[in-house]
Order: sequence, then structure tokens, then C-alpha cells
Amino acid sequence: MYRTHNCGELRENHIGSAVTLAGWVQTVRKFGSITFVDLRDRYGITQLVFSEQLNGLLDASPLGREFVIQVKGTVLERSNKNAKIPTGNIEISVAEFSIMNSAKTPPFTIEEDTDGGDELRMKYRYLDLRRPTLKRNMELRYKVNRSVRNYLDGQGFWDIETPFLIRSTPEGARDFVVPSRMNEGQFYALPQSPQTFKQLLMVSGYDRYYQIVKCFRDEDLRADRQPEFTQIDCEMCFVEQEDILNTFEGLFKHVFNDVKGIELTEAFPRMTFADAMWQYGNDKPDIRFEMKIQNAKATGQVFCKALEGSDFKVFNEAESVLMIAVPGCWEYTRKQLDELTEWVKRPQIGMSGVVNIKCNIDGTFKSSVDKFFNEEKLKDIADFCGAKAGTLILILAGAETRTRKAMSELRLEMGNRLGLRNPAIYRPLWVIDFPLFEYDEESNRWMARHHPFTSPKPEQIPLMDDMSRYGEINANAYDMVLNGTEIGGGSIRIFQRDLQEKMFAALGMSKEEAQDKFGFLMGAFEYGAPPHGGLALGFDRLCALLGGQESIRDFIAFPKNNAGRDVMLDAPSDIDAGQKKELGL
Ligand code: AMO
Repeated sequence: MYRTHNCGELRENHIGSAVTLAGWVQTVRKFGSITFVDLRDRYGITQLVFSEQLNGLLDASPLGREFVIQVKGTVLERSNKNAKIPTGNIEISVAEFSIMNSAKTPPFTIEEDTDGGDELRMKYRYLDLRRPTLKRNMELRYKVNRSVRNYLDGQGFWDIETPFLIRSTPEGARDFVVPSRMNEGQFYALPQSPQTFKQLLMVSGYDRYYQIVKCFRDEDLRADRQPEFTQIDCEMCFVEQEDILNTFEGLFKHVFNDVKGIELTEAFPRMTFADAMWQYGNDKPDIRFEMKIQNAKATGQVFCKALEGSDFKVFNEAESVLMIAVPGCWEYTRKQLDELTEWVKRPQIGMSGVVNIKCNIDGTFKSSVDKFFNEEKLKDIADFCGAKAGTLILILAGAETRTRKAMSELRLEMGNRLGLRNPAIYRPLWVIDFPLFEYDEESNRWMARHHPFTSPKPEQIPLMDDMSRYGEINANAYDMVLNGTEIGGGSIRIFQRDLQEKMFAALGMSKEEAQDKFGFLMGAFEYGAPPHGGLALGFDRLCALLGGQESIRDFIAFPKNNAGRDVMLDAPSDIDAGQKKELGL
């Protein structure tokens, strides 16, 4: 028997027991003739004491960090208790020990905060995973998984697997492809999501499907994106948007309570896409703090009277002039303001500068545009922004899309600086009424904003006959947003062949192309397809947010780096000539 107990298990009630433990050596500390060792496994850490009598043996076979050892001994009460760990009241007086395997010195410290850089940690991910931080993340991920399954099972959902070797699914990213040996010159695509399969399952009558499933997308990576990631993918029959929002709001609340003990009692607020863009500048607003965008001028229309009749060209010539009132920052120094200017000039933000108005505590104003706006006008602007004394108003001006995006970033940046984005506070919401289409300037055509299976609002279907009105059509689509991150998205689907054909045509697909790519789905719609809808939640993102972090990487056991590489396996890699030949490459 390797062990009688694990390293996180022993307490004061075990004092006096003879035990056998096995695990990894975390630290070795010598105090005079006595040696203390912290022994670690998945369950915790237990202190071992090697008395003087064992020194001969320790000298003959010294213990090093990460050695795997087995010890036999007796549980003693610790004189110097450690309240920080659950086993901190006891220690093991070692009678005998054996080294089961030695270890090279690890390339970085296996501790809460390691000295290892990202690449090194990824290369030795199996060591990185020994760190308590990552272990907690993996545990959290498992618990979220279990909690999701329990909830969905309770709601009558079935977990049904769908294939990975498929034909391209249009979710907006590039596909990863797999060459077929048996069908030379042809390729499978890995699913960007199980979208069409889950819809087909609804046609089969399997109301309430779910899957915690890998999805593959060849897109540029960011902190919250991986080329292979996991979705909680769901679909239901005979539902309207309201049913879906309620079901998954329920899931979310269940998981938060179950995993974190957090009761989200209030109904999730709902915000239209248009309002989100207007007030927050993006479709995934962080509503942990206010600081809403004030639209002094938007797409040429002036809403703040004080801007009228000024000689300030920058505002006059700009398509949009957007403002935020930052509370408490009226004392920003010259240096801090210069820094902000540099910040908005960064290529990612792309603005040429930022105008400021300080609303002083004594009711006066000081502005970088004093020359163009007198005290009265500055007061009008402050009133327009609802800015109280003690506020700093920041103003960006320029082309609508770019300025709105920049203002959204600036708002988040100021939120960060003021500590208003506390990861321990959770503010979920639904963003609804997304546009059905989005115009892609690059390819000069209309694209599906969500995906081409999303249904338009029924009353707007007639607009699909007039391309000039595509921009007005809204979809029965919704996103779940948490603390500024898109956690999930879904829609009520098209379930009639003719409407689906119309949608493909609107996206510029010929009848033949639509038939070739999606004939299977449209064919299925001719055999009694029920109304249906669903959504998918980003499982990795949900875990990261529950863990209070932004990057999903440390919630995935074996993630890829920013270049999409697995540095441990050194993948992707070349394949040998024989393999290529067999595949006809
Ligand atoms: P969507 O494309 O919005 O919808 O994806 C759903 C959710 O998956 C997460 N996500 C990602 N997470 C990590 N890395 C990525 N590269 C990545 N891409 C997406 C996000 C996102 O909200 N089939 C539809 C769902 C539906 O209509 O039912 C779909 O895939 O959290």
C-alpha cells in the first residue's frame, strides 16, 4: 500500500496514529540536527519531521525538491502551529522513508507565484499544473462542469455528442481542416461549433440537447480566445427568446450559487444592442460602474447645444464627439493628462488626442479648450454630462465607429484606474435585439452578425427583400455578458426552408452554393422542423471569470500560446514525407 492517508487529510483527531504518506517534496528545511519537509499532493501539504536518528540515511540519500517519496511515521501535535493550512496543527514524526523517484531541479519554482515566464511554464506545463493556483483553477473548472451538468439534467436536457470531422460551419472564423486519406484531395473541417447538428437534433425531436464540447476556430488569439476552446452548447424546441433567457439565467444563478456560494437574486437586466453601443460604446458593456458615454454629437447630429456656434474645428469637423464624466479626478495633473493623451494615441486606440474639462470643487472649470468655450459653455457641457463638482470630463472626437470604440476603451481604462472593475463583483446582463446583418467593408458585402441560421424579427422579414434596408433588420439574437466579457450567445433559429434560402441569398450565396453547403439542413427543414432556438456559453471564459481572472489560459490544462502553438509538444509540426504522400499533399 502506497499510503494510508493523503497529504491534506490529517487533523488533531489523528494524533498518535501510525500513518503512511506519499507525495512530492515541496521544501526541505534543516534546523540544526532536525529536518523539516513539506510533503505535497493534490489534497494539500503535510509537514514531516526527520529527527537526528535519520540524518545518516538523509545524508546517504538526500531529498530534493519535487522528489517523490513515501514516509511512515506517527502523527504528532505541532508545537508551532500553522493556521494557514488545514493540516497545520499536526506533523508526522518520520520513522522510515523511501525515495520512489528523484527529480531534476524544476526550471521554475512550484509555488503560488512562480518565477517562471509564460513560455517556460507552458513548456513544462505538467510542473506548472502542480502549482496551487492552477490546481485550484482545475478544481473550479471541474466543479463548474459538474454543476452545469446537474442543472441541465434537472431541466431534462440530454447530452448528445456530435462529430468533430465535419464540413465547415460558418461561425465567422477560419476553419481548421483535416485532410482525408480515403478521399484524396478532400478535407474535413473541425467544427467551429456544433451549430447545424444541434439544429438537426431538434428536427429529430430531441428537445433539450446540451453538450460541453470542444470547438475549433482559427482566429487571432487574445487573453479570452483559444484556437480550441469549450462551449456549453444548448438547444431547445418550441421555445421563444424569453424561455431561453429564463432557462440560462437559471443555469447561471445555479452555478454561481453552487460553485461560489454567490446568490445572484436579481433578474439579469436586458439592454438592447443599440443602447449598449450608445451608452457604453460596445456590445458587451461592463456595468459594474456607470460612467456612461455622453453623446454630445453622434454621426453628425449635435445633442449638446454648447457645441453649437463654437470655433473649435476639431469638434465641428468631427462626425462624433463623445464624453465621459470621470468622478473624483478633477485634480489630474498635467503629467497624468499627458499620459492619457499618449494612451489614446496608441495604435490600438488610434485617436489623435483627448480634450479635458476639470469641474473644480469650487464650481469653476478649467479646460484644455478654454480658448473656445467660455465658463458658461463649459458649465453647459458639464450639465449635459451630469458631471458634478470634482469630476474630470474626457472628450474624444472623430469618425463615429473609431471614436465610439476608443471611448469604450477609455471608459474601461478609467474604470481600471479607479478600481471600479472589482473581479469579486459580478454584474451579468443580456444584450438583445442584435442587428441581423453587418456590413463588411473589406469584402464589400453583408454578413450574418451572429450566424446565418439566426431568425430575423418576424415583423421585419419583408425588409429582407430590399438590400438597402438590411441594416434596419434586427435578429432574435441575444448575448449573455458578464463584467465586460461576452460569456455566451445564441438565437431563435430559422426553421423554414424558404426563409433559410432567403437568408443565404441575402448573404450573397447562389442557390447552388447554398444547396451544396447547406442542402442537408434545408432538406431537414422539409421534414417537419419545429421552431427552436438555443445558445452556447463560453465554458473557459465562465471559469476564468468565476476564478476572478481575465485570461482563460490558466483555466485550461494544456492551452496554446499566443501564436497558437503547444510549446510542450512543439505542435503544429511538420509530418513525414510518407504521411504527406498518403494524404495526397
Ligand atoms: P458564439 O460564436 O457566440 O456562438 O460562441 C459562443 C461563446 O463561445 C465563447 N467563445 C470563445 N471562447 C474562447 N475562445 C474562443 N476562440 C471563443 N470563441 C467563442 C464566447 C462566446 O460567447 N453556435 C453559436 C451559439 C448559438 O447560436 O447557439 C456560437 O458558437 O464566450
